Amino acid sequence: MIERRHLAPPIGRVVATEQKPATPHQFHFWTANETTIGIGAIVRVAEGRGTGEGGRVVYGVVTDGFAYSDLATPLHDVVGAEGNPARAAESPTVRQEIRLWTAAVLRQTPEEPLQPVPLGEVHVASDVDVAQALRMDTYLGGAQPTAIPVGLYTSGGLEAPVYVDADFLLGPEAAHLNISGVSGLATKTSAVEFVLASIFQHFPPHKGRVAAVCFNVKGPDLCFLDRPGALQEEDRRRYERLAVEPEPFQRVRYYAPFKADGVNLNTLRTHPDLVGDVEPLVWGLREVLDYAEVLLNRDDIDAKADAFIDFLADRVVDKEFEDGFGGEHRVVTFADLERLFRSIFDGLELASRGGDSWRTHHIATMRKVRNRLANISTRCKGLVTDDGPSNDLPWGRFEDRTVYVVDVANVDPLGQDLVFARVVSQLRERLERRDLGVDAVVVFVDELNKYAPADGPETYVKKMLLDISERGRYLGLVLFGAEQFRSQVHRRVVGNAGTVVFGRMDADELATPGYQVLSPAIKIKLATLPIGELMVRHPHFTQPIFVRFPRPAVLRGRDGVERYPPAADLPFEDAVARQLVKLDRRVRPNQVKDVIADRREEDVRRALAHTRQARPQDALAYFKRLLGGRVAAVPAAARESVAPLNPISDEPY
Ligand SMILES: Nc1ncnc2c1ncn2[C@@H]1O[C@H](COP(=O)(O)OP(=O)(O)OP(=O)(O)O)[C@@H](O)[C@H]1O
Ligand SMILES: [Mg+2]
Repeated sequence: MIERRHLAPPIGRVVATEQKPATPHQFHFWTANETTIGIGAIVRVAEGRGTGEGGRVVYGVVTDGFAYSDLATPLHDVVGAEGNPARAAESPTVRQEIRLWTAAVLRQTPEEPLQPVPLGEVHVASDVDVAQALRMDTYLGGAQPTAIPVGLYTSGGLEAPVYVDADFLLGPEAAHLNISGVSGLATKTSAVEFVLASIFQHFPPHKGRVAAVCFNVKGPDLCFLDRPGALQEEDRRRYERLAVEPEPFQRVRYYAPFKADGVNLNTLRTHPDLVGDVEPLVWGLREVLDYAEVLLNRDDIDAKADAFIDFLADRVVDKEFEDGFGGEHRVVTFADLERLFRSIFDGLELASRGGDSWRTHHIATMRKVRNRLANISTRCKGLVTDDGPSNDLPWGRFEDRTVYVVDVANVDPLGQDLVFARVVSQLRERLERRDLGVDAVVVFVDELNKYAPADGPETYVKKMLLDISERGRYLGLVLFGAEQFRSQVHRRVVGNAGTVVFGRMDADELATPGYQVLSPAIKIKLATLPIGELMVRHPHFTQPIFVRFPRPAVLRGRDGVERYPPAADLPFEDAVARQLVKLDRRVRPNQVKDVIADRREEDVRRALAHTRQARPQDALAYFKRLLGGRVAAVPAAARESVAPLNPISDEPY
């Protein structure tokens, strides 16, 4: 629908004086006192009186406004009213008043030579003008359009869809999105949900397949992305205008670690109707060891410990290994590793020389690494298993337009770091090798200030987020970050975001140096922005633009937990039974309870994990067979002598 608004009468006229000249980047114009123009409005200036045919056309966005009369000083007004404000309105002559506006230039056509804005008529912008002004024409049309709708520019009863360029939002030209603003009013999480939906529906076919990995770090925020939410008429209208279907995500996969009991899932999506599609996230020794740097660098990065971890990862884990004291080991699990440590320490003690190093590694280094590893398996019990197979995201089999939600909201910070590090590194490696299953992945990290703070130590996670920010765009690895205060996030992480979005802002935050480029009027607008309105900066837009977006069409976290209240933790046997039923609908819970009565919990957990991994036809029979004795990693007699993998510290950790 093309509106030819600029043929309508002008709403203003450019003025330029010696004091306030027009420049190539800024101009002033006046309007009638009654006008629809406001801060953020987009206008079109055509040279002379006509429509700009053949002449220069300039698009601008209003950044400031002034009102004044012909009075030289306020004193004249006071004298005129004899000092009585009530009489000021009775003055016999109506004073001349002016509405004067300042606008920043968005675009000039022709672009060369760049000249001051001509003294022409000012019109409000139509849909077509908005597309021109924001340079959206370059990616809206053509053989392979790359436009992704993000919201509606709205001003004076006119609205126009605003699109960002997929090549600049998701790479390779630029990438990443950062959104900030105060809690609750800025609609950060909602805006990201909407933009993701829009990307899934408008991602250009020639760019291939796209998926999203969302870390749920706060309560039930992202636990119901597949459930429809309540929309209002106005939301539906906005969806229609933006050509986005108002529906929840069609394909969502949920991953959550277990709680410490190893059988109940550590997430708020545990309502019986929904818990069925939550996959456990369980990692073993191999998965942890590859990212052991995450565990070490927090306080005491140590080259010797690093070298010992590398030795374990390269030479010991998953290999036949001889400990030098006559013991043969095949270390696959934490429990196996603990046995190896015991055998080495016992061996060293018994050795007549009583040496304090083993294969060039000092005993103190080995103890330290052993304690750190024991520490993670204790603090993140449920995520990290002592033994038993792991269960991970579907690496290599990522599906198109699918959201993978990784729920780490209730995981220990150390465990959260481990999850971030491993998931993001895997994404990076697989995208590099082009064997992830999709061509681009959006990684959404809410509360980014926690993971990439402006100050504080250089943690592994921070380095990794910096790495995505700086190099991800070539790989299709895209970071969508949200935080309350942009100034609290590492400069290079926010600085590399091509698209920057602001919701309602805190006035103190606006006073920090990062916002000096904004005019006082824009700052006021940001500090009072209504819910559902955002300010967007994008590489194609010369100036920030205000847009409105509809509520996301998914169930809000807090409505979700009301509609689907999380189930209470199940007793051990029931939780095990439920998981087996999930694998095989024919399984009857009572059968399971009979099978596991009198069994040790760790044996049951291990058998369950193996069954989950094998996905056999007859889950119960398989499970029974495993429990029948073949599950045990070591013979029952030897098992008694194996200490539990607790901090076995004889030094502080
Ligand atoms: N487009 C919209 N129009 C109207 N209301 C909206 C819109 N988007 C979101 N909301 C409402 O605004 C509220 C806050 O949204 P949201 O949780 O996304 O904010 P947030 O910035 O992520 O907050 P927090 O910092 O606490 O995480 C929600 O109740 C949501 O329903
Ligand atoms: Mg939020």
